This record gives sequence, structure tokens and C-alpha cells, in this order.
Amino acid sequence: MSGEEAFVTLATTDGYAKGAMVLGCSLREHGTTRKLVVLVGPHVTETCGQALRSIFDEVSPVDVLDSGDSARLALMQRPDLGVTFTKLHCWTLTRYDKCVFMDADTMALSNIDELFEREELSAAPDPGWPDCFNSGVFVYRPSVETHEKLLTFCTENGSFDGGDQGVLNSFFNTWATADISKHLPFLYNLSSIAIYSYLPAFKHYGRDAKVVHFLGKNKPWSYNYDTQSGKMVDLPEGHQPGLHPDYLRGWWRLYAKSVMPLLRRANGDEDFPSGSVEERSPDIPEDETTSSPSADPPSHASPNPRPMSSEERKQRWEAGQMDYLGDDSFANIERKLDSFLK
Ligand code: UDP
Ligand code: GLC
Ligand code: MN
Repeated sequence: MSGEEAFVTLATTDGYAKGAMVLGCSLREHGTTRKLVVLVGPHVTETCGQALRSIFDEVSPVDVLDSGDSARLALMQRPDLGVTFTKLHCWTLTRYDKCVFMDADTMALSNIDELFEREELSAAPDPGWPDCFNSGVFVYRPSVETHEKLLTFCTENGSFDGGDQGVLNSFFNTWATADISKHLPFLYNLSSIAIYSYLPAFKHYGRDAKVVHFLGKNKPWSYNYDTQSGKMVDLPEGHQPGLHPDYLRGWWRLYAKSVMPLLRRANGDEDFPSGSVEERSPDIPEDETTSSPSADPPSHASPNPRPMSSEERKQRWEAGQMDYLGDDSFANIERKLDSFLK
């Protein structure tokens, strides 16, 4: 027993590596006393590798494992998630007694070292299927034996979602019923999309959130966010809005403040790869609130420039095509709710 404990994340691409950098900085900013470890795949560039090394205590190369299960992944509309099987390698970090795994698209909003008081496997409910845990944040105990069992389990049973979450839920299959102490509060893995599906709860509890999870296809690093206008510019193809603008702004602020200088240095300054977000970095005022979840209406919500009839809006909403950053923004929905509740 080494007595050592660590936060662990994973990045197989430069995009996720940037997410990992922000996560690492967020944990440091909130004064964690634990080690920070990132598992990196072979496609992460040296520039990102160097920046990661200045944030993390340990940058550990990892073999990419892929479920290759395109059929099940298609059900989630996320063909890219087969590589999340790689996450299972986090059980090999046996120099640590206990670890907290966090997806590279998560960000700590406060000190969360108390998670190390929990036991394997502790996790928060998945917003889409709350009898499953979401595998974006979980407490575990590294063990060669568990690692081997997990890999055997994958080979024999596959994963019902094609990614690690399906396997982990089938493997730790008593999570839902056996021991409530293994249920982390949702506030430790607040999916920024779930905010919109239960807005009153977010209004009531949101300010206590400890970790935000940018779950879903679009990630903070896929955007260029202009805080002046409160709008996303150059939206990525297949854009599905849903990331809460306040959290997105918090992510970008930390990225601009703590990560960009490291990337510039790692890159020998000047010409950071053309086409990268850095070239079009958002202009973020210094006094911006960073990570505190605001239950107040965000001041930057912008109206949709194209007028739409309320019937058309209703149809779009029902078809899941919300304009989260315009008409259906948090501020507008909240105003409506308030008027009903009065
Ligand atoms: N991941 C990665 N490369 C990929 C896809 C995923 O390194 O191409 C890692 C990364 O740590 C990421 C996690 O696997 O946060 C889970 O994937 P993602 O967060 O995209 O899934 P979601 O939470 O959106 O379902
Ligand atoms: C989930 C989790 C993510 C996991 C993925 C694949 O939505 O948020 O952490 O890697 O599904 O199973
Ligand atoms: Mn994630």
C-alpha cells in the first residue's frame, strides 16, 4: 500500500488533450492535494504532450483499445466512442491505492478531494438512464486482477453501448441497488445538457455543482465562443446546442488563462498550428465569473435573429431542436418559468 491517490484522465487526441489540460488546471486551481495522472494515446502531439507534462504529475502512454462496435455506438450516434474502452487501462495504475477517474470533458468547480473517502465503484447516476452510473467520473481501486477481469468481460460480453460505460455498468452491476454510499451526488457529474431537461432543479441546486461534464458530441474545444456577444461562432458541423453558456465560458476562461500560454511555449511561441482555435481565441474579460454555477439568468443570452412563430418553435422543441443559445436560452426559459410560478 503506497497510500498515494490520484485523479486520472485520458486523452487519445489533441482535442481531448486540451480538455485534459483544463481539467488538470481546474483541479490545481481548487487546491487538490492528490496526484494528477493523464493517460495519453500515441496520436497526441508533442506540443500537447509538453503542455500536459507541465500540468500533470504523470503523463503515461497508453495503448488504444477500441470496442469496434459500430452498431451499438450508432445507437448513441457517437461512432467515435469505441476508443473509450481505453479507459479500462486506468485500473493498471497500481502504484496508487485509490483513484478518481474523470473524463477529459469534465471540469472541477471546487475542491473535490473528499471523493477519495468513497469506495470502488462510486459514481453518479447517468442523466439519460439513472439506474446506470455515468462513467465520466468514478472512484476506483487500481488492480491488475480487476483490469484483467474487465478485459475478459469485454471480450466475452462486449458493451451494450459500445463504450466503457456499458461494460462498467454490466461489470459493477449492483451499483444501482447494493450500497447507497457508492452513489455520488449528481453534483459531482453535472451534465451540462441535463440542465435543460430539468431546469427548475438546476435553478434550485445548480449553484452547489462541483464538477461539470460537457457530455455529448460537441465539446468546449470544438467551439469558438465570443463572450462579448455571448454567441458561438463557426459552429461545428452537426452542431447540437446544449452546453450551458456559463460553464462554457468558465471552460474557455481557464483555457485562455492557464492552457494557451503553455501551448504557445510548447510550440516555440509564434505560429500555433493554423486553423486551431487558438488563432481565434475568444475575448474573455478578466472579471468574468469562472466556475461558479449561476442560477441567475446569464446576461449574454442572445435572441435568435430569425423570427419564428410560436407554433414553429414548439415543433422544433418537440423534435429536440432547441435553440439553447437563442430563443430557448436558459435566461428565456427561466423567465417563462418564473412568470408561470408567480
Ligand atoms: N476519449 C478520448 N478520445 C476519444 C474519445 C474519448 O480520449 O476520441 C476519452 C476522453 O477522456 C473522454 C472520454 O474518453 O472524455 C469519454 O468520451 P466522451 O467524453 O466524448 O463521451 P461522452 O461523455 O460525451 O459520452
Ligand atoms: C457515456 C459517458 C462517457 C463514456 C461513454 C461511452 O455517455 O459519459 O464517459 O465514455 O458514454 O460508454
Ligand atoms: Mn465525457
